[in-house]
Amino acid sequence: MHLIFHNVTFGYDSSPDRLFREVSFHLSSGWCGVIGANGAGKSTLLQLACGRLQPLQGSIAAPALALYCPQRTDDPPAETPAFLQSTERDALLLKDRLAIADDFGARWHTLSHGERKRLQLGVALWLQPDLLAVDEPTNHLDAYARGLIAQALASFSGIGLLVSHDRELLDRLCQACIQVAPPAVTWRPGGASAVLAILDQERQALQRQREIQKRQLQELQREVLRRKQEARQADHKRSKRHIPVKDRDAKARIDAARVSGKDGHAGKLQKQLQGRLEQMSESFAQIRTEKTHTLGIWLPGSKSRRVFLFSEPGGSILMGEERQLHYPDLCVKSDDRIAITGPNGAGKSTLVRHLLQHVNLQPERITYIPQEIDVLEAKSILAQALELPSERRGQVFTIVSRLNSRPERLLASAEPSPGEVRKLLLALGMSLQPHLIIMDEPTNHLDLPSILCLEEALAECPCALILVSHDAHFLARLTRITWSLSTVEDESILHVV
Ligand SMILES: Nc1ncnc2c1ncn2[C@@H]1O[C@H](COP(=O)(O)OP(=O)(O)OP(=O)(O)O)[C@@H](O)[C@H]1O
Ligand SMILES: [Mg+2]
Repeated sequence: MHLIFHNVTFGYDSSPDRLFREVSFHLSSGWCGVIGANGAGKSTLLQLACGRLQPLQGSIAAPALALYCPQRTDDPPAETPAFLQSTERDALLLKDRLAIADDFGARWHTLSHGERKRLQLGVALWLQPDLLAVDEPTNHLDAYARGLIAQALASFSGIGLLVSHDRELLDRLCQACIQVAPPAVTWRPGGASAVLAILDQERQALQRQREIQKRQLQELQREVLRRKQEARQADHKRSKRHIPVKDRDAKARIDAARVSGKDGHAGKLQKQLQGRLEQMSESFAQIRTEKTHTLGIWLPGSKSRRVFLFSEPGGSILMGEERQLHYPDLCVKSDDRIAITGPNGAGKSTLVRHLLQHVNLQPERITYIPQEIDVLEAKSILAQALELPSERRGQVFTIVSRLNSRPERLLASAEPSPGEVRKLLLALGMSLQPHLIIMDEPTNHLDLPSILCLEEALAECPCALILVSHDAHFLARLTRITWSLSTVEDESILHVV
């Protein structure tokens, strides 16, 4: 069983540039991690591997049974009804292992994104493909579900491609990684942490080599200049034009220097130096260090003058037809930093929607980043950004760049990637000086450098903050109050801690 990319070149029709150029690699069974910044082309690579996209040039040889398990959770897999109805041992085992209930198919539109992810993966593993390309399987998942997914994926024995920003999962499953850095794609042995550390070392070594060569080049340039000046002076001395007509001695000295070849030697040296300079300039141009972009953003939020942005006596919210979410007296003050936590399906996003409806602020003072943004919304957010007056548009795309995604790719994109669209939404919301920022699973889909930038920016931001996340480290750094949801049968209960 093999997956072979041979000189593959690919670009989307909407973009004048090629995303990948002459990509070649060879994989056999086992998991291979796929790493790279948001918008680098990870999902594109997986879709090429599974035959959902065709290369413009080159060829891809993949097993016939290749399956892409998508990053988005917009639609249920086509085989969902067959999987849920199946009473075969494999299907029962997977449903049990991934905690998939029989009504998941019928309830797709009310399922939480974490539940949808589990169902997507259950169906994919049940189909037993030879090549399985899994795109961000642990987004939206709590620690327990992440463990379930890791176990289920570990039992897969074909060729696996895994895109994930979850280093733990990558390290646990993968023996090799593919680094996506357009237009190049490079195969590397080792788990994600090891590969990322090596990439970092290589970047630093290349940077050092470039600096040394730069210094040598400057020295050589100075030397060439000095010699040129000397040669000019020698020329002047050699010329008989400035010598009085009758000064025979001076003319004889010049003739002697020409015969002894002193000047010819200096000229040769100068030519040699010029040759060395050209060689060195060429080799300097060939050391290409990856362009590093300045990262880091500042969130210009401000604290509202109202003491309470939200205040409500205890009550219940209906989730679906039967399930209830019970909450005690709740309030959000103007500089509160609240974490909303709880297992998948407990009602975190329902609670956020409730807050959004009842919060005591003008809508333009709230920056809300939802848990998922479907393709149509993503396209309309990009269109909205493109229609901005040029100065504001420039500011918005600068923020995207400072969050580690390339604006030029996004500008040419017909369908922004999930990571790119989150950054765009954040950039659009930032200019409104929000009094309240609500983010539902903010670290989902984001690459590691942008998570760190976001964390820094949120830590500095003076307005109220409500974060729904399974990322314990992120929450511990940024929040002081926890609204913790737990489930008992059909009821969810909220505790303020
Ligand atoms: N259908 C499409 N048409 C045109 N451009 C696209 C399309 N799909 C993706 N792109 C663009 O191609 C680039 C690569 O997208 P891709 O979805 O492969 O990135 P990614 O690495 O998976 O990003 P993320 O980490 O956010 O998931 C992005 O700049 C994206 O905007
Ligand atoms: Mg992707």
